[in-house]
Amino acid sequence: MKLLEDIPGMKEELELVGHTMRECVADSLGRQPLSKIIEEILASDGKYLRPALVLIFGRIGMAYPACRSKLVKTAAVVELIHMASLIHDDIVDDAPYRRGRDTIQSAFGKDMAVYAGDYLLSCVLRELMSPEMLDVGQSLSRAMGDMCSGELGQYAAQFNVNTDENQYFMNISGKTAALFSAACETGAIASGCGQSSVSASKQFGHSLGLIFQLRDDLLDCILSHEDSGKKQGMDFINGIYTLPVIYTFNDSHYGPAIRDLAARAKGMEPQQVFTELYSIVSVSGGVEYTRWIMRQYRERAMGYMLQLPSSPAKSQLSGVLDYLVEV
Ligand code: IPE
Ligand code: IPE
Ligand code: MG
Ligand code: MG
Repeated sequence: MKLLEDIPGMKEELELVGHTMRECVADSLGRQPLSKIIEEILASDGKYLRPALVLIFGRIGMAYPACRSKLVKTAAVVELIHMASLIHDDIVDDAPYRRGRDTIQSAFGKDMAVYAGDYLLSCVLRELMSPEMLDVGQSLSRAMGDMCSGELGQYAAQFNVNTDENQYFMNISGKTAALFSAACETGAIASGCGQSSVSASKQFGHSLGLIFQLRDDLLDCILSHEDSGKKQGMDFINGIYTLPVIYTFNDSHYGPAIRDLAARAKGMEPQQVFTELYSIVSVSGGVEYTRWIMRQYRERAMGYMLQLPSSPAKSQLSGVLDYLVEV
């Protein structure tokens, strides 16, 4: 995200994160077919938002810049966890592409993709075993558990047109917000922040993570100038019912229409599903409601930000929140 690269030293540190990730998986080099898959994984860079959060919160405490190498290593580990989760997520979703390229599961098959994701997690484990990483490791291992729990919750709710908002928020808290939260928390821990700042950082990350997933879920079902690199309408087709959809399920006027579409979606052209979905969630108010909820979480996140010591990097965070809610 351009906004974050403007923070002094950030661009260089993110490059170091990329190098560190390569070092973490260097073990795979020359071991076929593992090496080929890992090369493909590393070739498709994401936005590096979570590592950037580690680095931003790593500027808040007094230990910065002395703690820089620990921050970079933590950021690399966070991104590896994220990448492993995406590889596994794409298997479950049967997703054809991500970041504008073939997914690992579509290029190499589901079985290979399972092992490749596991391999990345083994690299994470090894990094977190070194004594100086144990404190951040506690937070990250908890987040990994929450991610699995959220994904399982989502899986259990799949194709359930009676799922509710509560369940939805529990699921996205785990599958997405947990890692955002841990990224901010571990940055604060590594930079030597006190307990109250660590806690505010963690809460900030949680709200930001919820906003991030709400935005992603919205982008699956609205027209947007943005190319997410993913195929639209797929959440709905796959029975992953997100907030704009859940809101519409419960609308007395538009509920029957969207429930009917849910029943028909599997046998339809994805583009046609998307067109119908978009028109229903727009008129039902589901899209507006989701935008409103995102703004509520932005307010919450701003409140946590105020509890943190001032830092030049911190001021970029409100720009990130503004960017995310404008969808
Ligand atoms: C994708 O996250 C998964 C979600 C939580 C929606 P990102 O959009 O951060 O993925 P990359 O790393 O930039 O591709
Ligand atoms: C996020 O959810 C996945 C993870 C946190 C692993 P999504 O299923 O919405 O992510 P995309 O849309 O496939 O990137
Ligand atoms: Mg997915
Ligand atoms: Mg999605």
